Amino acid sequence: MKRTGRIWSGFLVGLATVLLSQCSPYAGKNLLNFFFDGVPETDSSQAKRTDLLETSADTLGQEEAILALEKPTRFVHYPYEAGECASCHNELSLGTMVEAQPGLCYTCHEDLSTVYNYLHGPVAGGYCTSCHDPHMSESEKLLRKTGDNLCFHCHGKESVENNEMHQDLEGMLCLDCHNPHGGEDKYIFQ
Ligand code: HEC
Ligand code: HEC
Ligand code: HEC
Ligand code: HEC
Ligand code: HEC
Repeated sequence: MKRTGRIWSGFLVGLATVLLSQCSPYAGKNLLNFFFDGVPETDSSQAKRTDLLETSADTLGQEEAILALEKPTRFVHYPYEAGECASCHNELSLGTMVEAQPGLCYTCHEDLSTVYNYLHGPVAGGYCTSCHDPHMSESEKLLRKTGDNLCFHCHGKESVENNEMHQDLEGMLCLDCHNPHGGEDKYIFQ
């Protein structure tokens, strides 16, 4: 709970800064009241969050503010936000890591080779940061690119589209069928 609390309070302070720099002075004042009176110090359970959203609706009556609250503009990796640089970087030389990937990531995350029969090439090879930013991202799950562009970074668009299995993909995303990490066999289906 404590961790989640810290994530939320950090996020709200960051969000306040973003909103304050973008809104009119009038809206800014209301937001200031909301953020400084309304942000809980500790417990920020889902219920509290719903509460906050309702309070902000009452106080502000501003749909944008609520939308902004629901959709953060930046996603920060917890250990980075917490200043735990040394969980990944050697303290004496930031340029070197305490361990190579994927082991580095598996010190805190589930070892994906225990989850899937077959691992996607870059996962097996330990290139987690080819898809995820280790610090922060504008996209959910710390992704470097969104949608199919994440895949086209390595897989040629034409060769994928020329595959007869991909003839009728209108409106579908790569991730509707393929899993980004692994699967039963080499086609890594979801
Ligand atoms: C979860 C692991 C992790 C944490 C925590 C982390 N880093 Fe990094 N950092 C990396 C990796 C991996 C790279 C290598 C670049 C890449 O793969 O994108 C990197 C690269 C960097 C770079 C090189 C420039 C860049 O952005 O690519 C700097 C500077 C840096 N980190 C500073 C920090 C500082 C300061 C902190 C703590 C506030 C921190 N890092 C926390 C994993 C981490
Ligand atoms: C020191 C521990 C630690 C290390 C090392 C670490 N992570 Fe994380 N990571 C976390 C925590 C804590 C969270 C938040 C999980 C949660 O809230 O359930 C997280 C969340 C994530 C998320 C999900 C973010 C989201 O928006 O849901 C991704 C993706 C991720 N980490 C990737 C990586 C990758 C890739 C590496 C290796 C370069 C890595 N992590 C190394 C602790 C770590
Ligand atoms: C080919 C791109 C790609 C590579 C390489 C990759 N990931 Fe991911 N990862 C994703 C995508 C896409 C998601 C989001 C999946 C979703 O939301 O269903 C994700 C989600 C995650 C999450 C969040 C899981 C959750 O349920 O919230 C973690 C943690 C994570 N990856 C860790 C890793 C680690 C560790 C590695 C390296 C061993 C790695 N990833 C390599 C694309 C990748
Ligand atoms: C960092 C580069 C990289 C990214 C990004 C990437 N892939 Fe891959 N992908 C690979 C490599 C390397 C292989 C293994 C190729 C081999 O072994 O011949 C592979 C294999 C595959 C395969 C199995 C095909 C085969 O012949 O082995 C599928 C399916 C696949 N990727 C789908 C995706 C999807 C979907 C995405 C986006 C979520 C994606 N890839 C993103 C590098 C990448
Ligand atoms: C409707 C489901 C579906 C979607 C969506 C889909 N694929 Fe596939 N993909 C498949 C099937 C089925 C195969 C072939 C498996 C076989 O040959 O047995 C395949 C094969 C592949 C292969 C290996 C063959 C090759 O062309 O080298 C790659 C790589 C691949 N897909 C990437 C992608 C990418 C990238 C996207 C998004 C642009 C995507 N797929 C979207 C179902 C899908």
